[in-house]
Amino acid sequence: MPKLHLAVFFGGRSGEHEVSLMSARSVLETLDRDKYQVFQVGITHDGEWFTGDDAIGAFERGDTRGLEAATLLPEPGVSGLYVRAEDSRLSKIADLDLAVPILHGSFGEDGTIQGLFEMVDLAYVGGGVLASSVAMDKGLFKWLMRAHQIPVLEFAILDAAGLETDIDPALDRAEAVADYPLFVKPANIGSSVGLSKVRNRADLVEGLMEAARYDRRIIVERGIEAREIEVGVLGNEDPHASVPGEIIPSDEFYSYRAKYIDDSSELRIPAPIDIETTDEARRMAVEAYKAIDGAGMARVDLLLEKDTETLYLNEINTIPGFTQISMYPKLWEASGLPYPELMDRLIGLAQARKAQNDSLVRTYEGAS
Ligand SMILES: Nc1ncnc2c1ncn2[C@@H]1O[C@H](COP(=O)(O)OP(=O)(O)O)[C@@H](O)[C@H]1O
Ligand SMILES: [Mg+2]
Repeated sequence: MPKLHLAVFFGGRSGEHEVSLMSARSVLETLDRDKYQVFQVGITHDGEWFTGDDAIGAFERGDTRGLEAATLLPEPGVSGLYVRAEDSRLSKIADLDLAVPILHGSFGEDGTIQGLFEMVDLAYVGGGVLASSVAMDKGLFKWLMRAHQIPVLEFAILDAAGLETDIDPALDRAEAVADYPLFVKPANIGSSVGLSKVRNRADLVEGLMEAARYDRRIIVERGIEAREIEVGVLGNEDPHASVPGEIIPSDEFYSYRAKYIDDSSELRIPAPIDIETTDEARRMAVEAYKAIDGAGMARVDLLLEKDTETLYLNEINTIPGFTQISMYPKLWEASGLPYPELMDRLIGLAQARKAQNDSLVRTYEGAS
């Protein structure tokens, strides 16, 4: 069997650049080199692409000097990895079978690079353009969940424009969502950046102003005391759910600090919840995945309200963390699928999705 040529993409322009490097290192260490020839493409904070045998190491050191400028060309049929010489001349260094984007957040997990892979006609791991972008937008995502009768916390979507001149209508709409505490979030950002828990009107003003720095649209939600339950989903047409896991955040909620700075947050796998709640979490995860037209993989995050024991769907991450200790690979390990086999499955799913798309009619063939 000839080896499949994979390009693993990491880094990227989002605030989760460093997290992506950690995820990609694990993926690169895990991919079976008897099956795959692996090329590395690092994307800098500024969006420059570089390749090299140890691009990951260079990115970790923050020194791209020994690497070559890399690119893909947006026409079908030439799907190779190209390097660009000083004189801007391009040369192909590899034919590619598949892209493995291990990028989190904007320009990586939001459908943008997936759109590029579609243009290039290159198979890729994970959700397509639509699934990626809908999962990234907390507002549209919530409407979609409602349309599918999947429970989400009460919310309102506010425009950031106009807050500076007259904030009162926004305050009224936010306070109509529920009693305090409320959560205020930018629509399109992850890692708990720009997010706040607010307990009164003064905090709300501050929270809205903070969120407005990150996005044109802001989500205000009822705030609850919750346990954080996460489920891995894997598959295309017939997706499966892993056992659920639980995160015990080291902060009051799963804040940026609890996620990345103080790493004493704890994972419990499987989540210590009763069988009914387990089944319900897995069912909701698969329903939500199907609702966004998920493909390949996603980690579905739920909030389990402590008082009422009600599950709410919080969000879907279409490119979850992939370090050895990240929830997604751990959930599958606990469900009987070790990390290397998980990668094989994801690659197989990417090929299957590509073959399926290739078989679809794209042009008008006339009445028969
Ligand atoms: N409505 C809410 N009620 C209680 N806690 C919340 C609520 N919304 C968010 N949180 C807390 O904030 C964390 C981050 O919010 P989330 O919506 O998942 O954004 P991100 O995309 O940044 O992860 C959650 O994991 C949870 O701990
Ligand atoms: Mg989250």
